[in-house]
Amino acid sequence: MVLAYVEKVFGKINVFDLIKEFGSPLYVYDEDVLRLRCRELRNLLKYPSFRVNYSAKANTNVELLKIIREEDLDVDAMSPGEMFLEMKAGFSSDRIMFIGNNVSREEMKFAVDRGIYISVDSLSQLILLGEVNPGGDVCLRLNPGIGAGHHEKVITGGKKAKFGIAIEDLPKAQEIADHYQLTITGLNQHIGSLFLETEEYVAAAAQLLEIASTLPSVKILDFGGGMGIPYKHASEPRLDFEKLGRELDEVINNWVKNNRPITVRIEPGRYVVAECGAILGRVTAVKHNYNTDFVGCDIGFNTLIRPVMYDSYHEISVVPSEPRAYEEYNGTVYFVGQICESGDILAHDRILPVCREDDALIVHDAGAYGFAMASTYNSRPLPAEVLIQSDGQVRLIRKAQTLQDLWPDD
Ligand code: LLP
Repeated sequence: MVLAYVEKVFGKINVFDLIKEFGSPLYVYDEDVLRLRCRELRNLLKYPSFRVNYSAKANTNVELLKIIREEDLDVDAMSPGEMFLEMKAGFSSDRIMFIGNNVSREEMKFAVDRGIYISVDSLSQLILLGEVNPGGDVCLRLNPGIGAGHHEKVITGGKKAKFGIAIEDLPKAQEIADHYQLTITGLNQHIGSLFLETEEYVAAAAQLLEIASTLPSVKILDFGGGMGIPYKHASEPRLDFEKLGRELDEVINNWVKNNRPITVRIEPGRYVVAECGAILGRVTAVKHNYNTDFVGCDIGFNTLIRPVMYDSYHEISVVPSEPRAYEEYNGTVYFVGQICESGDILAHDRILPVCREDDALIVHDAGAYGFAMASTYNSRPLPAEVLIQSDGQVRLIRKAQTLQDLWPDD
């Protein structure tokens, strides 16, 4: 990849103009990219009874959720907070699925009271649901005993993961369901996050279909999310959607021929929102210490935790405050934030354009698990979020917190 200094975010809007108006750091989203990814997913399968559940944990900004609703995706939720925000964005309860993990009786009741379909992921939670909503429908989250993902912290299937009901426990699950007159109408799974090859996902989907053959009450199968994006723009290929769709269509159609019609769902989070989001920040200090160049900036792990938590890679562009000749670091360089921890590293050991104080930075592909995982650590208020609309207008879609918000008086 040829690096260069850049001026505009998403090739559309001048970075310094945005920072001047909305502050720094700043989350910026591009409506066109968001709609494109939604449409790609919606058209993944030719199989007609197919729905995409956006996994909202990746980003719950209500204005983005509204666009996702308009694009005819449904949503999943992990908490009453996510259900609340989804309903605020106009999702009716029949378009929300609550995928609980160790949730409380009150949280389960929150979903039951609103008629929201629930997936439980242990026998203990199945009993709780039986007590809260006897005679209702339930989806079981299975742990197929296999997992995948970009980091051990995001592998959600397999023998060591906390999620899902083991396949060998299915007869017990059926007994509990019978006891409470619950009907097992769905099965779901999610083996892990960020795959760029299709094999494991398709194999896990085929296995879920096989299990459904033994449970005639099941009408919905949810294969989970995990579709990856190429964070490394120069070296990672895009996930081959055409291949993924073809392979899934084949296993589904074969199964339907020998069994019965079924509704298929997938549950991507990252793929929907990662690429439509970027973070703008400012270079606040540069120094050369003991043979290492440090670029100090205002994007710490309070704003984006992925690099620190998973050693994740995000492309960075440098926006010079004044025009100058292009230069690259040729030794060790650390891009670091303002948090009082030595692990507060945004990027390291990479070829990057040389920075000066007052330059700006763009951190790419930050729309998923970016703002959603941001915190006020070191008592730094949360940043604003803006949307570059398809009509070219820029709209504030979440105000930055102020110092007052750190301790709101009643
Ligand atoms: N469904 C379930 C049940 C999940 O647990 C997850 C993610 C998804 C769907 C969506 O997965 P996706 O399509 O986004 O890969 N914070 C990490 C990712 C954690 C994912 C947890 N579960 C990251 O920044 O990479």
